[in-house]
Amino acid sequence: MTTALPVPTLTTGSAGLTLEGVALCEIAERFGTPTYVYSRAALTSAFNAYQQALGLRKSLVCYAVKANSSLGILSVFAKLGAGFDVVSGGELARVLAAGGDPGKVIFSGVGKSVAEMRYALETGIGCFNVESAAELDRLQEVAAQMGKRAPIAFRVNPDVNPNTHPYISTGLRGNKFGVAFTEALDLYRRAARLSHIEISGIDCHIGSQLLDPAPMTEAAEKILGLVDQLASEGITLDHIDLGGGLGIRYRDEEPPTPTDYLKPLLACFAGREEALCFEPGRSLVGNAGLLLTRIEYLKPGVEKNFAIIDAAMNDLARPALYDAYHEIVAVAPRELPATRYEVVGPICESGDFLGHDRHLSVATGDLLAILSAGAYGMTMSSNYNTRPRAAEVLVDGTETILIRERETLEHLLKGERPLP
Ligand code: LLP
Repeated sequence: MTTALPVPTLTTGSAGLTLEGVALCEIAERFGTPTYVYSRAALTSAFNAYQQALGLRKSLVCYAVKANSSLGILSVFAKLGAGFDVVSGGELARVLAAGGDPGKVIFSGVGKSVAEMRYALETGIGCFNVESAAELDRLQEVAAQMGKRAPIAFRVNPDVNPNTHPYISTGLRGNKFGVAFTEALDLYRRAARLSHIEISGIDCHIGSQLLDPAPMTEAAEKILGLVDQLASEGITLDHIDLGGGLGIRYRDEEPPTPTDYLKPLLACFAGREEALCFEPGRSLVGNAGLLLTRIEYLKPGVEKNFAIIDAAMNDLARPALYDAYHEIVAVAPRELPATRYEVVGPICESGDFLGHDRHLSVATGDLLAILSAGAYGMTMSSNYNTRPRAAEVLVDGTETILIRERETLEHLLKGERPLP
């Protein structure tokens, strides 16, 4: 069973499932449920896998904050020397609060506001990934008002098909992301003439949960062609940013390791001076985290049996939103024949499911672990149905650290007022 679990530091012991040797039932006892539980060792080894794959190449791994922006998680990566990919002023504030180096921050996203640009220029971020001509003009204006030069890369849309879920595919011509490949050269020429813009690099990101390195390699080759064209016009770059996107195993997927994923990309850029940057999110945190939840009720039905748990689509939206599969395991399975359950939350929507048709040997009150929930779990959670957000804990060797308190009703009502 142990080897079948996608969370690398999760094992089965006499007290049921343990993460880095800490029993999940103890965590539930101490912090309640639902609770997101992360393994520091798994976060560290995922980051180190990138570092090792990059070897001595001049490079920077910029963790994509949107995957999990909790300060406790960000601080683990900050201490490892990571850079950060942010998409809002809020994410930048989180990186700074977690001790991240602003000089290693890149700011992506199609809709940066004036206030966000100002904030990022004040803090001295490493690079703006610019996604349109209009954004370039706005950035020039804001930087001029502040008497600063804004370092930029254009996010170029390489028009390749990443073969992933359409909602998380971003590098095709019809997507809202990036500047068209055919317009990139002109935009660089224009940027080179702007007084408060400093050309620093080039960027692309084609999609998420990629399981095949081939589309990324295709994108990299296209980008390289552009870099050479720019160089022939005297526009030289410090860095080439190939985005994030490497997938993880949720069920039976076999994603490449960072080494296998990066190998063709490193070959493509061999012998070049520019630093190589990456923006991985999911592959750094996804399988370092799980959502620990308790069964409130078992409800046998006419057609289906339901396991109603205390976590819901507001805690983990991926199943409801993308029909995503997350492995669900009993923390301490019973000596009972397995029953097939629809694992559902208490929210008043039929879409509120965490897993369909799961074989579980459980009783009311038992704990379940919803695996591979470290990425796009907590960050996409909401207060729908006025449900407080879950607590988050980080297991660090023998220590278990509360990195986010469970929300209370007071948190939920804060800032609101009834009419007098
Ligand atoms: N860089 C940019 C510009 C991105 O848009 C993203 C993700 C990343 C990096 C990180 O990609 P990753 O390494 O995590 O694949 N909510 C969806 C995923 C949305 C991804 C959005 N962009 C999910 O739960 O699957």
